[in-house]
Amino acid sequence: MEASTFTGPCSVMVLRACACTGRAGDVNPKAILPMPTTIFTIANQKGGVGKTTTAVNLAAALADKKIHTLLIDLDPQANATSALGVEKQEGRSLYGPLRGEGGALDMVTPTSVEHLAIIPSEEDLAAVEIELAQGENYLARLRGVLEPLRVSGGYRAVIIDCPPSLGMLSMNSLAAADFLLIALQCEYMALEGLGQILRNVDRLKGAGVNPALELGGVVMTMFDVRTSLSRQVVEEVRKHLPEKIFNSVIPRTVRLSEAPSFGKTIFAYDPLSPGATAYRNLAKEVIARFGLGVGK
Ligand SMILES: Nc1ncnc2c1ncn2[C@@H]1O[C@H](COP(=O)(O)OP(=O)(O)OP(=O)(O)O)[C@@H](O)[C@H]1O
Ligand SMILES: [Mg+2]
Repeated sequence: MEASTFTGPCSVMVLRACACTGRAGDVNPKAILPMPTTIFTIANQKGGVGKTTTAVNLAAALADKKIHTLLIDLDPQANATSALGVEKQEGRSLYGPLRGEGGALDMVTPTSVEHLAIIPSEEDLAAVEIELAQGENYLARLRGVLEPLRVSGGYRAVIIDCPPSLGMLSMNSLAAADFLLIALQCEYMALEGLGQILRNVDRLKGAGVNPALELGGVVMTMFDVRTSLSRQVVEEVRKHLPEKIFNSVIPRTVRLSEAPSFGKTIFAYDPLSPGATAYRNLAKEVIARFGLGVGK
């Protein structure tokens, strides 16, 4: 999948390099090729299931492994933005670029985490839900907006945090992503929620929107060791999607819910906590599953 996605920009870069040096033999393609970019979206129509907690801490764990990562906060609630201690600023979100004003690269903002940048959110982004629906080609807007990011080769992984609905913003993220990651809370009716989102994705693909989109994996969140329900839900999901469920299950811990109020990732807030260990393990699985290792 990556190879076909990136032949365009890569070959352009190689050609440019050849033009500079005169001879193809002078070119060390590894030194010149931009990093391929893999775009993940964390989407689920259900609210409060751990999408943002997973987006922020997975992004930080990847960055900790020296993987250049960009987190895109596509939720007007801006929870991922504040969880990283980044101030919301008017005109710094994807609101402008989605309306054809400014570029995504201009919105990239550094964070206190090395190798991790963010495109923050702002309340105005909520207006996009209505405005996009009135424009042409409205499902492909984000894809177009993110293209310069792909071509720049500056980020190995892009993680999009979505609002709790399958409205215009989430649908645009599904149309722009290579892989969907589902954060699924270990609770009653979890499987029904999973079925619902997978059916929506199939509908989107059936309509010819991003047919290459794949389910990248299911992250089980808020696992409560004290209840048999949590274990049963994980077993059920494993039975249905054995290849997709991640082995790292995220425990329900107070430390994970406290960290965002300090504007910190779990690694800055309590690096030895079970929540930190779980997200570190998840990142290892993601790196292996999608071949995100440094230099790849
Ligand atoms: N593993 C966990 N253990 C304990 N609390 C958690 C855990 N994961 C998330 N939370 C808390 O649960 C609440 C919802 O989590 P989060 O914001 O990540 O969900 P969300 O799916 O992004 O929500 P929304 O749909 O509103 O965007 C937050 O208060 C968060 O701190
Ligand atoms: Mg959220």
